[in-house]
This record gives sequence, C-alpha cells and structure tokens, in this order.
Amino acid sequence: MLPAPSADALAHSQRVVAHLAALIAEAGGWIPFSRFMDAALYAPGLGYYSAGAMKFGAAGDFVTAPELTPLFGRTLARAIAPVLAQTGGDVLELGAGSGRLAVDILGELATLDALPARYSILEVSADLRARQRETLERESPQHAGRVHWLDTLPAHFCGVVFGNEVLDALPVELVHWTAAGPRLRGVTRERERFAWQDRPIEEACLRARAEALTLAPGYVSEISLAADALLASLAASLDHGLILMIDYGFAAGEYYHPQRHMGTLRAHYRHHALDDPFHLPGLSDLTAHVDFSAVTRAATAAGLELAGYATQAAFLLGSGLAELLMQTAPDDAAAYLPQANAVQRLVSPAEMGELFKVIAFARGEIAPLAGFMRGDRRHTL
Ligand SMILES: C[S@@+](CC[C@H](N)C(=O)[O-])C[C@H]1O[C@@H](n2cnc3c(N)ncnc32)[C@H](O)[C@@H]1O
Repeated sequence: MLPAPSADALAHSQRVVAHLAALIAEAGGWIPFSRFMDAALYAPGLGYYSAGAMKFGAAGDFVTAPELTPLFGRTLARAIAPVLAQTGGDVLELGAGSGRLAVDILGELATLDALPARYSILEVSADLRARQRETLERESPQHAGRVHWLDTLPAHFCGVVFGNEVLDALPVELVHWTAAGPRLRGVTRERERFAWQDRPIEEACLRARAEALTLAPGYVSEISLAADALLASLAASLDHGLILMIDYGFAAGEYYHPQRHMGTLRAHYRHHALDDPFHLPGLSDLTAHVDFSAVTRAATAAGLELAGYATQAAFLLGSGLAELLMQTAPDDAAAYLPQANAVQRLVSPAEMGELFKVIAFARGEIAPLAGFMRGDRRHTL
C-alpha cells in the first residue's frame, strides 16, 4: 500500500497537475514527455525539486549514497584530491541535493590538506540551493566561505566537476518503436487525466538516434538529449581536469536490451518505485537510468577523453572506502555497525554496487585514478 499524502501535499500536487494541464493546453493539447518531466520536477515553486518536499533520506522518497554515510563523500574526496593537486584547480559540484556530499567532501579535503580555493555548486532548484546553504553553514561553518553557487557554467574551469545522481534526474525523451518506425511519446489530457499520445519525431538528431536503435515494435524507452547537452557544455567549460559522474545505468547494449522493452523510467514516492510517471505529480520523483554509451559519445565528440568507467563498488573500493571504514574500530559496535551496513549497501551487487557506475572524462594530462585500476569496463561502452 502506498502511503497517502497529507491534505496539504495533495493540494500541492493538484496545483502541479493544473500547471501541467495548462502547459498541455497552451501547446495545443500535447507536449513531449521531456517537457512534462521538466515541469513536474523543476517548475519554480511547484516541481518536485523546486518546492519544499523532504525528498532525500529516510523521511523522503529515496536515499542517495551521501545520505547513507559520510564515507561515500570522504572516499570521493580521496579520489579527486590528486586531480586537484595536478591541476591546481577547484571543485564544481552539479546538483548538490541536501548539501550533505559537499560537507563530507570539504571535511575530507581539509584533512588531506587539499582544500580548493573555491567549491562551486551548480544547482537548478532555488529551494535546494537554500537548503544546501543551511546545511553547509550548520555543519561546515569553517569551509562555508569557500562555497559559491553558480547560475551558469563558468566559461573556463580547471579542476574537478562531479555529480552524484544528476544525470538520472534530467528530463528524457520517451520513444515508442512501432512497425512504421520510432515515434515520440508525449502527454495529453483525456477526461481530466494525463494520457499518452505518440507523434512523429520532428527533431532530426533525435530521429536519427531513435532509428539507429533497431528495436522491436512495441518497445518503449528513453533517450536523454539533456544528458548529451550537459556533457557538451561541461566539455566546453573544462580547460584542464576531470568530470566524474556517478549514477545508475548501463552501457547501450544492456540499456536497450530486448527484455527491457518498457524502458527505465520510474517514479519514486516514499521509497516505492512506480511504473506510473503520472503518480502524484510534484510529490513523486521521476528518473530514468543513464545510457553511459550515449554519455560517452557526447563527451568524446566534444573533445574529452574517456578516463574511466567502473561499477560503484570497484571505484569506491579502489579509492580506499574499506580503509576509511577501518578507521572506526570494529569493537565499537555502536559506531562501526551502521557504517559497515552503509558500506555494504554501497558496494553489494544486490544493492548499489553494480547498478551504479562511475564514469570519468578528462581534458589535458591527468594521472589515472586509483578507483579505475581494477574492474575497468570501458570496453563495454
Ligand atoms: C537525485 S538528486 C541528487 C542530489 C545529490 N547529488 C545526492 O546525491 O544526494 C538530483 C539533483 O540534481 C539537480 N539537478 C537537476 N538538473 C540539474 C542540472 N541541469 N544542473 C545542475 N543540477 C541539476 C537537482 O535539483 C538535484 O539537486
């Protein structure tokens, strides 16, 4: 049974529905799914990420790695510290969520004496920016002065750009492969409800991408033009350094596997994963897995070098996660067990260890990262 929303939450969702219905009406009765997803997640004051819902952690809708344990961010800090030293550059975090990851990374970089001059955050949600600022001022007051929020990517950046679970939160195009070729799936209104309707794909590059995937009639899946665009803009901004993205997803062969004929789009509501993306708009997160082959094509076409691709388990273990865990004495059960438990969730193949991947792109001379030394999967992309 799904938990029922409070009266206030339901009223909020009804406002989001009205906003989405108005967008559809203004567009003449139909919008592509990417437009629906963008508004459901990011419409100012209304969207899932742009209004005050809890989202992350036990009281929210899903748990991300930084909310599970500080060891995730500390391990990431250890992985990026050598790149900061090589480039003399800064850190740029994309989509910083609650601000938890920034607190953990700054703390560990300070321990390693590797703090960058600036730690920038690019965050689309004004609500989350405010929450990140509060978290940093409360939990990391000594480093908060280094943190700056950006409205756009800098024209020239040197150092490390990273994002945890950002690519999966970008609006995706939904495509329905039919006997007559691929069609763009969009949203219309029927009897006061959202309904699917397919139309021809007008955008040439999307049509070419969809046609290149020869999938059986009836297959429905996603193509993320927004992920391509983000990688291209990051590439244009990066003068020297590394882009590191962590997310759940697969290489194209597995992503568009015949058995995955209903795609990867899901709604997340109070720790339930749902197939219905129309469930309580504004109260449910919407996500799609990441096609890491497509991300790699976009990045390398923009002149970046693929510097590593591994499972989250291989990357974190190779970057020193187990050694950091051992800094807590196992006989101090109250401190050790929750951390060991969280580490288990991060690396276990049955949980986040294999579904989540870490991918890195470099511009300029960057020494190989320890996290990619074992379990290199670049050949699968
Ligand atoms: C699933 S949350 C992950 C939050 C955090 N990184 C974590 O691991 O807990 C996705 C985050 O990406 C942000 N986001 C979405 N699109 C973005 C974009 N184009 N640029 C920067 N941030 C974005 C969202 O507002 C949100 O903060």
